[in-house]
Amino acid sequence: MLGEVLESRRVVVCVGSGGVGKTTVSAALALRAAMNGRKALVLTIDPARRLANSLGLPTLGNVETRIGEERFAAAGLKPSGELWAMTLDLRRTWDDLIERYAPSAERRETILHNRLYQALSTGLAGSLEYMAMEKVYELERAGGYDLVVLDTPPTAHALDFLDAPNRLLDLFSHDAARWLLGGALGAGRVGLSLVHLGSSYILKTLARFTGVELLQSLAEFFVAFQGMYDGFHERAKATKALLSGEKSAFVLVTSPNPLTVDEAVFFAHELKRSEIHVAAGIVNRVHENPLWQPGATDAPDIARALAHERVPNDGRPFLSERLETTVTELSVLAQRDEREIERFHEATGGAFALHVVPRLARDVHDLAGLWQVLEAMHEHGGG
Ligand SMILES: Nc1ncnc2c1ncn2[C@@H]1O[C@H](COP(=O)(O)OP(=O)(O)OP(=O)(O)O)[C@@H](O)[C@H]1O
Ligand SMILES: [Mg+2]
Repeated sequence: MLGEVLESRRVVVCVGSGGVGKTTVSAALALRAAMNGRKALVLTIDPARRLANSLGLPTLGNVETRIGEERFAAAGLKPSGELWAMTLDLRRTWDDLIERYAPSAERRETILHNRLYQALSTGLAGSLEYMAMEKVYELERAGGYDLVVLDTPPTAHALDFLDAPNRLLDLFSHDAARWLLGGALGAGRVGLSLVHLGSSYILKTLARFTGVELLQSLAEFFVAFQGMYDGFHERAKATKALLSGEKSAFVLVTSPNPLTVDEAVFFAHELKRSEIHVAAGIVNRVHENPLWQPGATDAPDIARALAHERVPNDGRPFLSERLETTVTELSVLAQRDEREIERFHEATGGAFALHVVPRLARDVHDLAGLWQVLEAMHEHGGG
C-alpha cells in the first residue's frame, strides 16, 4: 500500500500529533522513493533541525538541497533516484510570496516593511501550516520533482492544518480591515473590536503598537494588500483541491501511546470529514516483544538461560533476575502497544492499512537511521 503510494503519488503529507515521528517518517518515505528511482523532495519543518543538519541542510533559508552521494555511500546506500530536502523558513516563504505576487515594486516594499505584516506573518497560529501548503502547491506546480513529501508542524487538529489558509486570509481580507478599522474609528478606540479576534498572540503583538501606529500600520497594510487577496484565496483553494485529489496521499503517523492513539483516531475522523483520504497509517516507536523473538518462550526461560551468570552483585538482585524483570516489563509494554494498534485499526474501521515501525535503540538522525526505519517497517498483521 505504502509502496504504491510512494511510486504513484506526487504529494505525500505526513500528519500526526507532536513528537510521534512525522519528521522522521517524512524523510524516510522520501528516501524510499529516491532509492526506488524517483526524484523526491522532503519538505521538513523540524525546529530541532537535527535531521536537517545531519542531512547536510543549511540552517537558514528556503533552499532545496540535494543529499549528496557521499552521504548515501556513508550509509551503504546507492539510490537510483535523487533525494532532495528543504527546511521551511517561515519568514522567507512569506516574503517570497509577497515578492512574487505584489502588483508593483512599491506595494511589495510597503508590505515587506510593514511592521504589522512582519509581526503577524511569522507569529500567527496557522502561519506555518499555511506556508507549508503554499510551498507544496508551488513545488507541485513547478514540476521539478516526482514526489514532494511534506512533514507537517505539530497541530492539535488536522483541520487546523487544512483551514489555516482560510483563517489567516480572512484576517487579511477587506472585510476584516473594514471591521477592524471601522470599529476602531467608530468607537474611537481600537481595543474593543480586536478583542474579538481571540488570539492572545494578536493581542500581545498589537499591544506593542500605540493606537495611532496601529491604525497606520493596519491601513497601510490593507491598502497595499488590496487586489492580492483574491490570488491568495484562489491558491488556497487550489492547494486544498490538490491535497484532497488523486495526486496526493495523507499518511497518518502516531505512536502506540493510548493518548496519542486517541488523537490519531480523532485526526482520522476529521480528515474524513473534510474529504481527505488517508492512504496509510504508521504506528511508530512500537515496543517489540522480546518473547516473540524466535527461540525464547517466556521470561523465566530467558532468566534460566542466563542463570549461569549468577555473579555476586553486592547483595543486589542477580543480573539474570534484573534481565528477567526487564524482559517482563518490555513484554507488557509490547502487549499494550499491540492492543493499541488493534484499537486504532478498529476505531478507524480498517479504512487504511497500518504499518508498524519498531522503537529503535537509538534516535534517528541520518540516512543510515532512516534506512533502518524503512527496513524495520512492516504492515500490521502482515508479519
Ligand atoms: N522508530 C524510532 N525509533 C527510535 N527513535 C525514533 C523513532 N522515530 C523517531 N524517533 C526519534 O524520536 C524523536 C521525535 O521524532 P520526530 O522529530 O520525527 O517527531 P515529530 O513528530 O516530527 O516531532 P514534532 O511534532 O516535534 O515535529 C526524534 O529524536 C527521532 O530521532
Ligand atoms: Mg517534526
